[in-house]
Amino acid sequence: MKIIVTDSKENGSTEGFKLFEKSINNGAKVIGLATGSTPVDLYQEWTESNLDNSDLISINLDEYVGLTSDNDQSYHYFMQKNLFAKKPFKKSYIPDGIKAINDPQGASDDYNQIIAENPIDIQLLGLGQNGHIAFNEPGTPFDSVTHEVKLTENTIQANSRFFSKIEDVPKSAICMGIANIMAAKEIVIMAFGENKADAVKKMVEGPVTEDVPASILQKHDNVTLIVDNAAASKLS
Ligand code: F6R
Repeated sequence: MKIIVTDSKENGSTEGFKLFEKSINNGAKVIGLATGSTPVDLYQEWTESNLDNSDLISINLDEYVGLTSDNDQSYHYFMQKNLFAKKPFKKSYIPDGIKAINDPQGASDDYNQIIAENPIDIQLLGLGQNGHIAFNEPGTPFDSVTHEVKLTENTIQANSRFFSKIEDVPKSAICMGIANIMAAKEIVIMAFGENKADAVKKMVEGPVTEDVPASILQKHDNVTLIVDNAAASKLS
């Protein structure tokens, strides 16, 4: 794993953006994208760049079950707001969280088919504090493909601040599996801030174990980790 340590999230995001730019200039056509706070600056840089997305396909990691794309908590909405509105792709795929209300397996199968037909050239990831990648929490099998993930009571409680009542908080998500992520030809994972330092250490220096989903990235031959000093602070 190649590691780039920067002095700030902004500079780290610039490094991340440069990797996407280089890969796209070298012919990458299918781009795996993430949501969350980590990629926001990278997306801003992308929207301000000359990069042309009109010949590219994007594939996102995950989506909540039951939120329509106009719900401001949905990942469809997030991607529209942060990237797609200004830099539309030829085609953008995000799991179908509405189909998944009644048919989570069908929505997952559809997504696996989409990924099989459009192998991901370069995948962006954020890192959870417990080492999760996408919604793949500790214990998720390394050979998992797109599947429905039941959110923990903790996550539902934490998310409830974004909704008017707790019943509106999604109870599950559709999420790419670890095997889908590992199949990407190149992976860029970014982590910023002290609260990611433990997860970064376990991911990079710990044993490869399903207890730390991101540790599997040690087995991928083209991964770049971008961290700020705080997130890198526990690395030996
Ligand atoms: C995002 C995702 C999550 C986040 C992770 C880090 O699509 O699947 O795994 O990457 O939870 O979140 P932030 O970036 O908000 O710290």
